[in-house]
Amino acid sequence: MAILIHCPWPNATVWLDRLRAALPDAEIRVWPELGAPGDIDFAMVWKLPPGVLSTLPNLKGVCSLGAGVDHFLADPDLPPALPVARLVDPLMADRMAEYVSGHVLRYHLRSDDYAAQQRHGVWERLPQKDAPARTVGILGLGHLGTVCARQVSGLGFRTCGWSRSAKQVAGVETFHGTDGLASMLRRTEILVCLLPLTAATHGILNAGTFGQLPQGAALINVARGDHLVDADLLAALASGQLRGATLDVFRDEPLPAAHGFWRHEKILVTPHVSSLSEPATAAVILAEQYHRCRRGAPMRDLVDLSAGY
Ligand code: NAP
Ligand code: GLV
Repeated sequence: MAILIHCPWPNATVWLDRLRAALPDAEIRVWPELGAPGDIDFAMVWKLPPGVLSTLPNLKGVCSLGAGVDHFLADPDLPPALPVARLVDPLMADRMAEYVSGHVLRYHLRSDDYAAQQRHGVWERLPQKDAPARTVGILGLGHLGTVCARQVSGLGFRTCGWSRSAKQVAGVETFHGTDGLASMLRRTEILVCLLPLTAATHGILNAGTFGQLPQGAALINVARGDHLVDADLLAALASGQLRGATLDVFRDEPLPAAHGFWRHEKILVTPHVSSLSEPATAAVILAEQYHRCRRGAPMRDLVDLSAGY
């Protein structure tokens, strides 16, 4: 039997070296060199072309090379009973928390306002708040959102988090459901999106959501580009409802050269780097998932295909 790998990233050779080292006895096939489809019993992939998984008759399980699994769920031919696992790596949560904390502090310290003043040679002290008087709201209290919430709370900010089910996180005021979202948005001055992309969360960063935030709030989207309604963000920035947005993810990636976000003075664009998967740590986690599957044990961090994450 053999493992199918698809890693479309520039560091694909590092991934292959790490996976081969973690699975020295396994036969590894790299897409599109599939060989006989019946040989493949496991897959470790990111954005495999749709339809491929359904052609593998002996496939027992599949793991994502990243935290998100929307790339699997976008495949209309995904076998409905196939066990699908997310990548849950503590290092990715630490990386995400560093990115989120850094940009929360950037808005809190008004770094962009001072950079703008510097461009015009302006020496002026702007009104400033202390962290305990500033509320950060995090959409999604999963593996990444919870670590981010704890770190932001540890920096002294009033921290809120929203999830589908009720949750308790020390130092974080938690909300859930539709009413919970409205309550959290009312007080949130810096909104962070860390939701999975599902039918229920698609387009959630829209005019209605922005309108419930206090005027002059900031947005940090590190989840998926399809969470955001681009035109609604531009309108909210133009009206002053939002003072700025930090965007790491986009509907089309790379962000097309003609897209208005590139040159918008209130938007910071980063190229989907807030929490890169790390081959050194991921290979160990993926090898363990493969061994569990081979011995008939359920994989960890299984996706609920009906919920979409
Ligand atoms: P996760 O562990 O699956 O957590 C998802 C969280 O979202 C959970 O708290 C879940 O609520 C909540 N949620 C889901 N649907 C909801 C809904 N309809 N209403 C309210 N809350 C909802 O996911 P994760 O590992 O933290 O990752 C989150 C996302 O980050 C990924 O799916 C991916 O898109 C993105 N990501 C981006 C990067 C990057 O580099 N930009 C890197 C990694 C991940 P429950 O707790 O109640 O289930
Ligand atoms: C990156 O976006 C991931 O989902 O890991």
